[in-house]
Amino acid sequence: MLQDTSFAIHPGQKKMIENTSYQDIGSLHSFKQDHNQFHSICENGQVTIVFYRQDIVRIIMNPFEKPSLKGSPAIVKAPDDVNVLVKEEEAEISLKTDDLVVSISKNPFRVVVSDQEGTLLVRESLKGMGLKHTGEVICYKEMDEADHFYGFGEKSGFLDKRGEKMTMWNTDVYAPHNPETDSLYQSIPYFLTVRNGKAHGIFFDNTYKSTFDLRSSTNEYSFQAEGGQMDYYVFAGPTPKDVLRQYTEITGRMPIPPKWAIGYHQSRYSYETEQEVRELAKTFLEKEIPLDVIHLDIHYMNGYRVFSFDRDRFPSPEKLIKDLKEVGIRVVPIVDPGVKEDSEYSIYQEGVNKDLFCKYIEGNIYFGDVWPGNSAFPDFTKTSTREWWGDKHLFYTDLGIEGIWNDMNEPSVFNETKTMDLKVMHDNDGDPRTHRELHNIYGLLMGQSTYEGMKKNLKGKRPFLLTRAGYSGVQRYAAVWTGDNRSFWEHLQMSLPMVMNLGVSGIPFAGPDVGGFAHDSNGELLARWTQVGAFTPYFRNHSAIGFARQEPWSYGEKYEAIIKKYIQLRYKWLPQLYTLFAEAHETGVPIVRPLMMEYPNDKNTSNLSDQFMLGSNVIIAPIMTPSTTNRVVYLPEGNWVNYWTDDVFEGGKHHMIYADLDTLPIFIKQGTAVVHGDVRQSTEYSNEKMTIHLYNSSYGTFEFSIYDDDGSSFEYQTGHFFRKIIKTECQKNTIHITMVEEGSYRPNWDLIEIEVHNAEDIQTVFVNGKMVESMKRNDNRLLISI
Ligand code: GLC
Repeated sequence: MLQDTSFAIHPGQKKMIENTSYQDIGSLHSFKQDHNQFHSICENGQVTIVFYRQDIVRIIMNPFEKPSLKGSPAIVKAPDDVNVLVKEEEAEISLKTDDLVVSISKNPFRVVVSDQEGTLLVRESLKGMGLKHTGEVICYKEMDEADHFYGFGEKSGFLDKRGEKMTMWNTDVYAPHNPETDSLYQSIPYFLTVRNGKAHGIFFDNTYKSTFDLRSSTNEYSFQAEGGQMDYYVFAGPTPKDVLRQYTEITGRMPIPPKWAIGYHQSRYSYETEQEVRELAKTFLEKEIPLDVIHLDIHYMNGYRVFSFDRDRFPSPEKLIKDLKEVGIRVVPIVDPGVKEDSEYSIYQEGVNKDLFCKYIEGNIYFGDVWPGNSAFPDFTKTSTREWWGDKHLFYTDLGIEGIWNDMNEPSVFNETKTMDLKVMHDNDGDPRTHRELHNIYGLLMGQSTYEGMKKNLKGKRPFLLTRAGYSGVQRYAAVWTGDNRSFWEHLQMSLPMVMNLGVSGIPFAGPDVGGFAHDSNGELLARWTQVGAFTPYFRNHSAIGFARQEPWSYGEKYEAIIKKYIQLRYKWLPQLYTLFAEAHETGVPIVRPLMMEYPNDKNTSNLSDQFMLGSNVIIAPIMTPSTTNRVVYLPEGNWVNYWTDDVFEGGKHHMIYADLDTLPIFIKQGTAVVHGDVRQSTEYSNEKMTIHLYNSSYGTFEFSIYDDDGSSFEYQTGHFFRKIIKTECQKNTIHITMVEEGSYRPNWDLIEIEVHNAEDIQTVFVNGKMVESMKRNDNRLLISI
């Protein structure tokens, strides 16, 4: 308690100065090439360097023995056969590919990575890399005055992480997420640096608790981990998007989610009975507010036993799920890892009998307190456990369920340390490791087990998985929500850089609890937050037990109308979003992007935390303070069109924008286009018409596409998709539009309308070389139907 008063800063409380005594790797003793691997034996450790591609190099230092190449489960790629030119001189060795140069100075052993133009990417500082006497492996790098840092997964605070010190240790943080809150639920030990408009990245693949220190010095940063090897990858860039492509080449990309998962989700801790769920669905239908998913939180279970329904509260789940699906609503239940200790409960029995739970080295099962009380935890580091747990999801798929919500998978335990005993020994498929070493991948492996099990059980349908905890690579299995935020305006503000940095960290499918989880929301906050939610990749309204209700109609008609308008707007924008999901799946480039990703040379974008881009041409600049109808918006080079009014704003400038409660400021880059579909009650009802909104500029070309597929199977992975590639060319008073189609899938919609904005001067439009005969003019817009 005393720590919560000024006593915390009592002079006697001063922490001991951190023990920094440290031994660097020393000088090089021998160097050997073995195919595509380069081994160095140094005074105080060994280093292996491996090129994964021309533009990706991995550097591993082990202070004690030959570096292991095994890597964590984040890694999906084996090294390519890269052509490396080796040049050894007296003081230096250089390893050169088409995109990278790794220069090693021999005495002391120091590594410098540059690009093919000789531009320095990362240089070890004087301290180099080595081992602290407290046991941590650490690497020190020079920090340039111009460096800006992004990524690091799920962190509170502003977009640019320069000046921050961040720890990776998956933690259940219910207490408010503050700018000073460090570890949250995800550990993504990866970052992207932008220096003078050029980008490179580093992924530190170490599953121990790790720390990135960009604070302690102004010209040096470091990363370290409590154990294991110094094992990191350097990505050459040179653009931020290239870094994303490179990082996700190593850690994998998001599969395209089922279409329903990118619709609107409604959740509450908890909708406690079948009756309550039915009434909720009915209200959405009556009020014609689109809805794709209702979440079932822990109350649906029998005594919080996973893979069970409480038959008093939910007498006929199968019928409920079927009835809801008929009206286009899916049910997603929560599944936590803790299995109730109960000798009469089959999941517990199986886990014990088949030896699938986490255990101490002495052989006794580890128990921790979570919702069901004393519980055992599946050891997801074991393939047999992952398969067993995955198969258990038949319980849900047999009921017609296609999506799962994984929570508490840090794993969270209700005790002082908030997690499992670090001494617990994970089986790790016969290579036993402590929980201290594998804690950060527990959630990732639970995600893998759940996703793969669901995929198998759904026989060709795409599953949806939502997870709270994860490690790099989690994007292969799950969407991520940012955990227990609060109904504070500050948390709405913080959610933007969080979602943007998750995107930069290879996790495109992310979003916060819209409206705020804990604390009481209010109409104005929920309206403003729903405006943002409509444009974040994951869109779920969720709120906690004991706090004000947060359904769209909770605060009266005035707010309900605004909230409805923006949920509907989400559905209009779904084709645009779906196209961006496909792009993220193919390239790793996120759906929601910080402006720096598109404009890395523009200094005004480097720490722009209160606006974001959807794809490459749309800027969303929400109002995120109460009683506010004006805000400053930064628009980068080019001209930008106000989505609501068609007013044109000059870029490279800040503008004061008016936006009443009904308005979310949205700007589209002039000369580009966005695609809209129909407003529908749910994604279950197909789109009939696509409207292309083309924002005319007198001169210029633009190329974009509309991606579509069946929205539910994996056939898109074998070419069964549809892509319409559209090129527009504006020439004073003429527009040429060409369209080509790709892929074998044919969508339900075939009618395309083109609405040209700011088209006063346009007299002629050609589509695929043919002049359009009939066009409708509506003020300054032109309407063309094809
Ligand atoms: C955790 C989750 C929250 C959920 C609650 C009950 O706090 O983060 O979303 O509602 O547990 O399951």
